[in-house]
Amino acid sequence: MERPERLIVDGRRLDGRRPDELRPLQIKAGVLKRADGSAYVELGKNKVLVAVYGPKEMHPRHLQQSDVAVLRCRYNMAPFSVEERKRPGPDRRSIEISKVVREALEPVLFLHLYPRAAIDVFIEILQADAGTRTTGITAAAVALADAGIPMRDLVAGISVGKADGTVLLDLMKEEDQWGEADMPIAVMPRRKLVTLLQMDGNFTPDEFRQALDLAFKGIERVYEAQKRALREKYVPASEEER
Ligand code: CDP
Repeated sequence: MERPERLIVDGRRLDGRRPDELRPLQIKAGVLKRADGSAYVELGKNKVLVAVYGPKEMHPRHLQQSDVAVLRCRYNMAPFSVEERKRPGPDRRSIEISKVVREALEPVLFLHLYPRAAIDVFIEILQADAGTRTTGITAAAVALADAGIPMRDLVAGISVGKADGTVLLDLMKEEDQWGEADMPIAVMPRRKLVTLLQMDGNFTPDEFRQALDLAFKGIERVYEAQKRALREKYVPASEEER
């Protein structure tokens, strides 16, 4: 696809959103029978499935840590998730994303409760349309909670950026590809602690602050949807009404 002449027309984006709007977001907890915890998230055209296993005994044993559990994250893009078929298996990008996702999630876990154990998080990108690392984090936090693993807080992710000089919430593919900036961010929402912040492109200090504000607004929405998904699984609708 060629770059459209403009990414913002009359204050509206290519998909009709205003700059501060999220794409439609749906989160479901506990979607896989054989995982200890799982979640499925759709954010616009992104479709992400996460499975969590553990805490369980760490194998191979030489990777065990005598005082804490080890969190292992694998971010994987399905070959059919992107326009140009992705070669199966890890590449530099997915190895880097797996690392930053792990670092974004670690602060909410009480890893010292499970010495010598492993907690495995598998993030499968089934369909990608920009923002997959942050959507993966959002889904992984729900899956960890669904696994019954004690957590200080959830972690919610979203990206912000800039296109045609306008600061935007939740970039879609065209804005990510042709815009001027892309800044994924993950936050522990209750404490408002940032656990991931990356950036491509350029922001003035003012734009950066504006983008950060917008990200926190988006995070609130994502957090609400995460809590709703967990409530829906654990509190039957009839009980919630009482
Ligand atoms: O997905 P995220 O924004 O976290 O990461 P990115 O590296 O900024 O990639 C942005 C988007 O580019 C992805 O979400 C995919 O839609 C697309 N992409 C692709 O088409 N082919 C790849 N091999 C990698 C990414």
